[in-house]
Amino acid sequence: MDHFIHRDGVLHAEDVSLREIAAAVGTPAYVYSTATLLRHYALFDEALAWGPHLVCYAMKANSNQAVIRTLADAGAGMDVVSGGEYARAKAAGVPGDRIVFSGVGKTVEEMRAAIDGGVRQVNIESEPEMERLGAVARGLGATVPVTVRVNPDVDAGTHEKISTGRKENKFGVPIGRARQVYAEAAATPGLKVVGVDVHIGSQLTDLAPFELAYRKVADLAAALRDDGHAIDRLDLGGGLGIPYERSNEVPPLPSDYGELIRRTVGHLGCEVEIEPGRLIAGNAGILLSEVLYLKSGEGRDFLILDAAMNDLIRPAMYGAWHDIVPVGEAEPGAARRVVDVVGPVCESGDTFTKERALPPLSPGDLVAFRSAGAYGAVMSSEYNTRPLVPEVLVKGVRFAVIRPRPGYEEIIARDIIPEWL
Ligand code: LLP
Repeated sequence: MDHFIHRDGVLHAEDVSLREIAAAVGTPAYVYSTATLLRHYALFDEALAWGPHLVCYAMKANSNQAVIRTLADAGAGMDVVSGGEYARAKAAGVPGDRIVFSGVGKTVEEMRAAIDGGVRQVNIESEPEMERLGAVARGLGATVPVTVRVNPDVDAGTHEKISTGRKENKFGVPIGRARQVYAEAAATPGLKVVGVDVHIGSQLTDLAPFELAYRKVADLAAALRDDGHAIDRLDLGGGLGIPYERSNEVPPLPSDYGELIRRTVGHLGCEVEIEPGRLIAGNAGILLSEVLYLKSGEGRDFLILDAAMNDLIRPAMYGAWHDIVPVGEAEPGAARRVVDVVGPVCESGDTFTKERALPPLSPGDLVAFRSAGAYGAVMSSEYNTRPLVPEVLVKGVRFAVIRPRPGYEEIIARDIIPEWL
């Protein structure tokens, strides 16, 4: 069910009019729906209900404390990839034994913090990292549960910048070397092997690459058991895609994905962990923006918004599509106008889309970028000294600012002019 729909001609987030939010918070601003977050989490939870499992939300998609708390209260674990994300998860009240620590380059400080604060498992990505983690654990007199992230050399068929499971990618250890690495892990005091980890990429709109990868992982897990390792847990990563262009994309459902997991690894009797980020948060959020100008260029028209690439970088970075919807519902049959939608930042890359046919829009009108709840606010910056975009969480008829827009003084005060200047 879509929780961003037009009611009485105005786009709402759940029961709150986006006009009301724009008036209270200003634009641009991200707006999230609690109901959508919870529903998406529940879809995964139900898809894996056939066996022991934990849905570890990939916090990198949207790590606002309020979002994490919402999901953690529903029972989610967290997948973190930095000391900062680990600290955020803890600050939001997530217990250590529900936090999985992933990432290719963990520092000693990050390892220490996770071991000290408690961690469900650390997913090791290389032999040198394994050695270092063992040393850190021993230094703390601890034993840390680990998996090794294996690289199954499977083409996820997704954008090259977000594909991770091929042998030329920097992630994981080649699956062909895994048995050797597990033997080393088992022989490293301070580490306790608990399972296998894999993640092949993001925004997968086809289940076939998952199937290939998970079959390889199942074979590996059986071989590792034969080698004497206790493989009780499989972390199968995230990556299930979402429809960005609603009119023509139908990605697989979480229930099909859950069934695929049962089919490929269910016979092993392992506890299954997954790390979805985008599917939980993506369609739970929109970026709200106001039209500043409609400018006629030579041969094309530009719709200039108050949101820019610093607020939502996905189009500039990945050529990503986001549906753009007027907050005020267009008259049925209103003539569309073909425009380039751009922001005010001083570079041509600050283009959200080219030659998009949109209903008539005028300065002062509000628009919503759909599917912006994942990898939107978290990837925003203050480029051009544009204040970090605020975030709002809606629940039913209520809404709350969950990250305020900083003032210029606050931004400027972060710089320090040395006393010799
Ligand atoms: N687990 C690991 C180890 C990951 O690296 C990722 C995403 C996930 C889970 C979550 O994947 P998801 O379910 O969200 O697809 N900034 C890019 C996406 C980068 C994804 C990086 N890793 C974008 O805006 O499309």
